[in-house]
Amino acid sequence: IKKYRVPLVIPPVMPQSARGSADGIDHYSIGVRQFRQQVLPPGLPATTVWGYGCTEDPGTFHYPASTLEARVGRPVQVRWKNELVDRSGRHLPHLLPVDPTLHWANPPGGSGGRDGHPMFRSTPGPYTGPVPLVTHLHGGRNTEESDGYPEAWYLPDAVDISPGYARVGSFYDLYKQKAQAAYDVAWGPGEAVFQYANEERAATLWFHDHALGVTRLNVYAGLAGFYLLRGGPADLPEGVLPGPAPRTEDPSGRSCHEIPLVIQDRSFHADGSLLYPSARAAFDGFKGPYVPDSDIPPIWNPEFFGDTIVVNGRTWPVLDVEPRRYRLRVLNGCNSRFLILKVVANPAARRPADAALGFWQLGNEGGFLPAPVQLEQLLIAPAERADVIVDFASVRPGTALYLINEGPDTTFQGGRAGVDFAPAKPGTTGQVLKFAVRSQTSPDTSVPPSRLTLPSLTPLGTADRVRRLSLNEEGSAVLPHIGPRRALLGTVDVHGKPVPMGWSDPVTENPALGETEIWELHNFTVDAHPIHVHEVQFEIVDRRTFTQKTPSPPEPWERGFKDTAIAYPGAVTRLRATFDRPGQFVWHCHMLEHEDNDMMRPYRVGPAQS
Ligand code: C2O
Ligand code: CU
Repeated sequence: IKKYRVPLVIPPVMPQSARGSADGIDHYSIGVRQFRQQVLPPGLPATTVWGYGCTEDPGTFHYPASTLEARVGRPVQVRWKNELVDRSGRHLPHLLPVDPTLHWANPPGGSGGRDGHPMFRSTPGPYTGPVPLVTHLHGGRNTEESDGYPEAWYLPDAVDISPGYARVGSFYDLYKQKAQAAYDVAWGPGEAVFQYANEERAATLWFHDHALGVTRLNVYAGLAGFYLLRGGPADLPEGVLPGPAPRTEDPSGRSCHEIPLVIQDRSFHADGSLLYPSARAAFDGFKGPYVPDSDIPPIWNPEFFGDTIVVNGRTWPVLDVEPRRYRLRVLNGCNSRFLILKVVANPAARRPADAALGFWQLGNEGGFLPAPVQLEQLLIAPAERADVIVDFASVRPGTALYLINEGPDTTFQGGRAGVDFAPAKPGTTGQVLKFAVRSQTSPDTSVPPSRLTLPSLTPLGTADRVRRLSLNEEGSAVLPHIGPRRALLGTVDVHGKPVPMGWSDPVTENPALGETEIWELHNFTVDAHPIHVHEVQFEIVDRRTFTQKTPSPPEPWERGFKDTAIAYPGAVTRLRATFDRPGQFVWHCHMLEHEDNDMMRPYRVGPAQS
């Protein structure tokens, strides 16, 4: 695959629905459809993907989605529609191989799933039923009925779904009633209406699918988009940072100096279709095939690592830049891959490569940091975001620079590229994006990052209690050499031993409403995991290895508020959060393969559901 053949696409702004901004609420009607998109360079086949778009305008469906532009203090209401049906209204099958032995969304009325999975045994071959969906606004602080609970999924309103199918997940009806009462909205078949309060700090949020046990596949198929929350006391006045933001009138983005970048790794078949493993891949010398009746899920792979890099829905694109400052809002949208990004002159250089330009990181998941941080490279785990300034002012027009990736082509344990682990292949996954520097057309009036004062932060108070939690991997009894059969969260007992727990175990994390807690993440596995807690933006308190006496403070770019934190192997990572919305939410590893095979737990704020 040739690199740097096509311009970077800047996702346009998501249009509102015909209802517009009635009653002080911005209304959207967003569907999920299947379509073809030129993800690979021209000359190669187009790829069938899934994407979000405004249901009233078929031209707005893209992978990744158009960007939802939200304002602090202005609620957004979205009618999320599952439109995965063909022209005659029949359900579309999944684009990718589903593993029905996982605790997946399991539409056929509870017949499949982790416990016994009779469906898989009685009907060998791929799952061809309808696709469950439910959208989560990642980083959003919302009521439980609008959070996109993994078991609040729903199938499309298709004509051919047999009566035996459960059309919605076990939490759907409860949340439908709650939404009806709270927002006076009706949910029709094949949809859910969520309302986002937008009461938090201005930040780079994103939305993606979150259906139980198939999140890795639904996101891989294309279901992700940016949600940029602007304004309020925690934002900077317009004009201080490079802008303007992408606008609907200028979808090409030529005049944009604020660029959202979602970086994802993907693999493709020769016909252009997305490649996601349909069998347990070779692992530690294991060549397959799946051993029937073993305890290993037959299709699930512990992690996915693709062999191409896709930025905003195209492989290795080019961004024309002027010699001035740019604001990049970077999202690691990979299923499992940790990224270490650098701007260099020669993309094929030996790793670690010398940086040609540095970054000024201004923000992370929870909005702006306390102060700008100057960095040579960005370490971004899956689902983390970095709001950064790159200053091309010193670069001569006609020069090309490259965004490269020195993260590993495998799981991450921490440490330095080229010293502690082999960096990604310089010829493929070690490259991300080309910056073609053109001549300047307009003056840069933004404030240099070294002189910026960022909005103030109110730290969380002292914690009311401490919880000791664990990250675990469970080996296979039958085939211990082929890697984990599932990943788990859990608690830690009084002796310091992990108590692993899966999705279906009862809730153990139950903060009282309004309480501030410290969550200690004891990582008993050999890999780093990006841990995401819904509903809150937390502070990283500190980290220490199991043998270390005095803890280390969070990295400078991890200050302020975050919703995803790297928990390193053999270490305790401590988070502090205030749980100020009642209801049932989830916390999980954001390596989507882990999330789907049990590294996710429900947690409850306040008393149990009445
Ligand atoms: Cu980005 Cu629970 O997800
Ligand atoms: Cu994990």
